[in-house]
Amino acid sequence: MTYLHLQLLLFVSSSLMSGMAIAAPQIQPGTMNLGVPGQITRNQGVPQRPAINQTPQIQNVVIPQQPIQTQNNMPVPQPTQDKSTPKQQKPDMTNGTQTSVPATDKPISFGIVLFPGYEPLDVMGPLQILFRLSMSKSIKLSVIAAQKGPVSAQPDAPQLKGRILAAPQMIATNTFEDAPELDILLIPGGWGMLILADNVDASLQKFIKERYPKLQNLMSVCTGAIALAKSGLLKGKQATTNKSAYDEITTKYSDGIKWVPNARWTEDGKIWTSSGVAAGIDMTYAFFNKTYGPEVMKKVMNDMEYAPHTNSRYDPFSVVFNVRGAAASNADECPKPL
Ligand SMILES: *[C@@H]1O[C@H](CO)[C@@H](O)[C@H](O)[C@H]1NC(C)=O
Ligand SMILES: *[C@@H]1O[C@H](CO)[C@@H](O)[C@H](O)[C@H]1NC(C)=O
Ligand SMILES: *[C@@H]1O[C@H](CO)[C@@H](O)[C@H](O)[C@H]1NC(C)=O
Repeated sequence: MTYLHLQLLLFVSSSLMSGMAIAAPQIQPGTMNLGVPGQITRNQGVPQRPAINQTPQIQNVVIPQQPIQTQNNMPVPQPTQDKSTPKQQKPDMTNGTQTSVPATDKPISFGIVLFPGYEPLDVMGPLQILFRLSMSKSIKLSVIAAQKGPVSAQPDAPQLKGRILAAPQMIATNTFEDAPELDILLIPGGWGMLILADNVDASLQKFIKERYPKLQNLMSVCTGAIALAKSGLLKGKQATTNKSAYDEITTKYSDGIKWVPNARWTEDGKIWTSSGVAAGIDMTYAFFNKTYGPEVMKKVMNDMEYAPHTNSRYDPFSVVFNVRGAAASNADECPKPL
């Protein structure tokens, strides 16, 4: 069986199984405001897929050795779900053959937080990698927000109402109260974070602080670092953030934080932070490169046809945005495919 067959098989079988643990986010089309200022018309006509299983349970899929052949020779997926032995091995698709996953391969419960006005790529960049990884690794995704249901990338500010017309919505599957136990928590940035930063509502900070002791890793993309800073968790840690707002953010949140001006991403103990928007993809790549190893990640990144920056101190945008303390770094470094 070729790799393509295997991948097709996995895709078809996963779509046949409701409730299977795969990191597939749900998106709704953008909220459209057709020229009436201050009024939002919600698109109600989109059928929603069934809600995903809310219980924090990782299920394994066992792909049979030989697919059953039909008359026209098309392989028919024969998935079986195995709930009794969660540590059971799954096929590793690294090189197109079925190999066993290393013993160190543990299921991961990954949470990402949404708030009105998140930056789409801050969320979707890391999730693209997660989505691909979850085809061969046990990764359960929880999309967490103050309330369940659609969360718009449109910032929730009166002066911005209706100004960003192409704002997609994503479905939050969990609230801060009912989110399952998490191994990794990622806080994206976006315009909405700048609004949250000045908000008296501390529910996001409270959630991050409460969950932190049990997390293996806490990550932020772009202005998501503000939420970490406000939670007090960046004290004594290296961190970086959105380079176009770098001076402003690092001046406002300076208390004991070792802000790094020249950084695509930083890693300090349990905490990973990335620079603006697309840098979140490079951080997520580097993070999972540590978890699953370069061979797995090479496959994921090449299938995405994305050449990640592999040098965490590569940061031409610190130069573009004249960041205080930034050296004119290797701004012309050109990443090559892995
Ligand atoms: C695939 O990878 C496994 C484990 O890394 C290795 O044992 C096997 O020889 C590889 N097969 C091919 C065809 O490269
Ligand atoms: C980065 O900061 C700039 C300046 O404050 C802001 O305009 C921009 O929206 C921020 N980018 C993101 C993705 O939050
Ligand atoms: C990926 O992992 C390999 C092996 O651990 C390491 O040599 C390499 O530096 C890592 N790359 C990045 C970008 O972290």
